[in-house]
Amino acid sequence: MTVRTPDILSPEFERDPYAAYRRMRHDTPLLWHEATKSYLVSRYEDVERVFKDKAGEFTTENYDWQIEPVHGRTILQLSGREHAVRRALVAPAFRGADLRDKFLPVIERNSRELIDRFRGAGSVDLVADYATRFPVNVIADMLGLDKSDYERFHGWYTAVIAFLGNLSGDQDVARAGERTRVEFAEYMLPIIRERREAPGDDLLSTLCTAEVDGVRMSDEDVKAFCSLLLAAGGETTDKAIAGIFANLLSHPDQLAAVRADRSLIPRAFAETLRYTPPVHMIMRQSAVDVELSGGTVPAGSTVTCLIGSANRDEARYRDPDVFDIFREDLSATNAFSAAADHLAFALGRHFCVGALLARSEVETGVGQLLDAMPDLRPADGFDPVENGVFTRGPKSLPVLFTPVSG
Ligand code: HEM
Repeated sequence: MTVRTPDILSPEFERDPYAAYRRMRHDTPLLWHEATKSYLVSRYEDVERVFKDKAGEFTTENYDWQIEPVHGRTILQLSGREHAVRRALVAPAFRGADLRDKFLPVIERNSRELIDRFRGAGSVDLVADYATRFPVNVIADMLGLDKSDYERFHGWYTAVIAFLGNLSGDQDVARAGERTRVEFAEYMLPIIRERREAPGDDLLSTLCTAEVDGVRMSDEDVKAFCSLLLAAGGETTDKAIAGIFANLLSHPDQLAAVRADRSLIPRAFAETLRYTPPVHMIMRQSAVDVELSGGTVPAGSTVTCLIGSANRDEARYRDPDVFDIFREDLSATNAFSAAADHLAFALGRHFCVGALLARSEVETGVGQLLDAMPDLRPADGFDPVENGVFTRGPKSLPVLFTPVSG
């Protein structure tokens, strides 16, 4: 008897994509999906090959329709020298001395401010009260924007991500995404002009003044990049923080190990990225006919790389459906660089530029939360069901703790 693989847009798939991924990897590693007009690619070796793209067979032109209508044109769409120069303009802010000296204090302050709101309460929803707010607050603060506008940012990034993941073509979602582009431009462009006149020490001023090979970003470029940052750096890290707590709370022995030895946080984060990646699907466009497991992708096709499947490929990881921060077949040292073996940040030219920033946020956030909640435990009704198909994470994480005195 053949078992039917549920459609990726069905409620059954959303309930448990991992079972469907397993079937795809086994029976149909290359599967045409009519509704998204794309080939679904599910095996680790194929997704890795598409991302690394050593032979120049794939482009990111899919973002022309997938994301340009909301952000404008960003580095995600670019290739070759144009991509390299634009990436070099922005990358230094997200690593090394800038990250450590300028932005780590911003990360620590924003985490502390959120925790202060519930420090004495004894209960909190880690998703609603912390994870969905912390990364977007950090980015807004890094850019030097007004704190009172953070709520609007929250609304904007939610609309942008909904547009990106609008696999079923919902018209309301499309219209909300387009509205966001207009509102965001009206908000950002005057601020960008102000920073050009009077640059400060913030990331927005850096973006306005940065120059590589005689190239600077236009106002439109800076605005588009800020929009990308909110979505790429907000939603993803939000899901990652929720994910690490969902996984640790569901494995109390591993939570106890991390609590006792904070140097295990990067390991727990790397395993969370493998086991429950925040971004499950990334698309590419084939420039030529490409041979993958299960058949040929004709030139000019869209492929959907199933990260959530590749990261649980039994050909790559032992017991892939087990969450184990001590697993030996996943490197925590390389997990935040383009030498990563999990695929949650993609690989190759477009490898996540914010991976080290995400690591700093998670290390700081998890550390501060564990300090504030030494006996953190699930509350009644704790059921970390994941939600979402394109990006995915727990809906809510109600927890209890005894407030620390003093
Ligand atoms: C756990 C958190 C994160 C995850 C899982 C994640 C995931 C990803 C993935 C999968 C890509 C590749 C997209 C593609 O190849 O088409 C990417 C690219 C990117 N990410 Fe992240 N990201 C995270 C955090 C961040 C943060 C904190 C920032 C910055 C504030 C950021 C900024 C970007 C940018 C600008 C790109 C585009 C890079 C390029 O095109 O060269 N990300 N991210």
